[in-house]
Amino acid sequence: MPPDFLDDDAVAAWTASGAPLVDLLRQAHAPGRLTGFRRGGRAAVLVTEPRHVHQVLGVGGDRYVKRSHRARPLLGDGVITATGEAWRSQRKLLQAMFTGRGIQHWEHHIAGAAACVVDRWAERARRGAPTDVAEDVQFFTVDTIWRALTDRPLDRETYVDLAAVQDIVAALPADVGGASALPPEVGSAIAALDERVLRALADARVRRRRDDAGSGSREPGAVRAAGSSVLDRLLDAAETDPAYTDRLVRDELVTLLVAGYESSARTLTWAFVLLAAHPAVMERAAGDASAVEAVLSETLRLYPTGWLLPRHSPADETLDGWAIPAGTDLLVCPYLTHRDPEVWPDPETFDPGRFPARSPLPPGAYLPFGIGPRACLGTRFAMREMEVLLGALLARFTVETTGPVGEPVFGINLRPAGPLHARVRERT
Ligand code: HEM
Repeated sequence: MPPDFLDDDAVAAWTASGAPLVDLLRQAHAPGRLTGFRRGGRAAVLVTEPRHVHQVLGVGGDRYVKRSHRARPLLGDGVITATGEAWRSQRKLLQAMFTGRGIQHWEHHIAGAAACVVDRWAERARRGAPTDVAEDVQFFTVDTIWRALTDRPLDRETYVDLAAVQDIVAALPADVGGASALPPEVGSAIAALDERVLRALADARVRRRRDDAGSGSREPGAVRAAGSSVLDRLLDAAETDPAYTDRLVRDELVTLLVAGYESSARTLTWAFVLLAAHPAVMERAAGDASAVEAVLSETLRLYPTGWLLPRHSPADETLDGWAIPAGTDLLVCPYLTHRDPEVWPDPETFDPGRFPARSPLPPGAYLPFGIGPRACLGTRFAMREMEVLLGALLARFTVETTGPVGEPVFGINLRPAGPLHARVRERT
């Protein structure tokens, strides 16, 4: 049986209205059925039922492929955009740094970057000056990933160039069928970003040569005494694996930078948006690590920054009895899945008490970090950095928003529009 496609007139009316893609998805969404729409001759199927999500991303993760050309102008052949064997070996190398014990290696970087934000808020509180929470948490997430990548703290000028990526990311189309032309200013932002990244790469090379000269001969690829940043590990790999050209090292660094700051920054901002509206929850979370974790899990349920995960079916498939012809795009939508009332009673309500879940959730029901082979590589890193910062800030300060709270923008990431102005006060 083919999926139920929206009437072409409804799609044409949506196109003419200029409304965001999420509105078309909401129109197409019909729980219990597999639905979709056709645009420009291409079929797209919306995937929201947990068991369908599990089929497409989980067990079918190798058949429903990721095309990711949305981000290719920026990320090149980094691990997010790579496919096939290249992806497998790139992922394996990075996985060791971001999972299991590998994660402990970044603790001091996370703590160092969090201390900078705490100091900044203490100064703001002393002066009674407002702050932009969205900007503060973004500085933190760029700082943590930059420290992990390079072993160096972030300075303001580098931050400005790196954070300009935000405009690039915001300009990327939300889905595979969207507009493909990027605005011209994107080129100069990518050039500025590249300059920073390539300078870090050149500096690391100089340091490594100096270390080698100081420590006598060394086998290619053998671990050095100094330098254990991600960049160093990529340069170690380059010594034995010709696939790691300077271009690929650059692509991997930019990929980790973009993937590693944007989503965590937006999630922390969403957490403050929600906490400011729920002061009792904010009080409960002050000084309670498990409550902080629950706040983050619930924030990621309501506002999964990866709100849309597009896949493509190169061959004819059957999904739960529905026929998926070759060439169909599948739009997995965690945003809609996370608001399924069958799984999440009263789904629109912010209730961190849902976490940790009392009984196991159905597979595919909760996926802020994706599921299956292409699930987020930085899950542990992200949760840890967010828990550390949110925990440290809530333990010491109260936060009260002073301006309007931004509406959700459903771009390549789900983010709140504009700044988040707030007044912070030291707890007494
Ligand atoms: C709250 C923070 C984060 C969220 C919500 C998030 C979410 C996601 C999601 C949903 C995916 C899967 C995309 C798909 O299936 O199409 C993904 C992939 C990925 N994430 Fe994250 N992420 C976060 C933080 C991070 C951090 C801190 C890093 C790096 C340190 C990172 C690195 C990656 C990478 C490299 C991939 C691609 C994996 C692959 O294709 O093999 N992410 N992320």
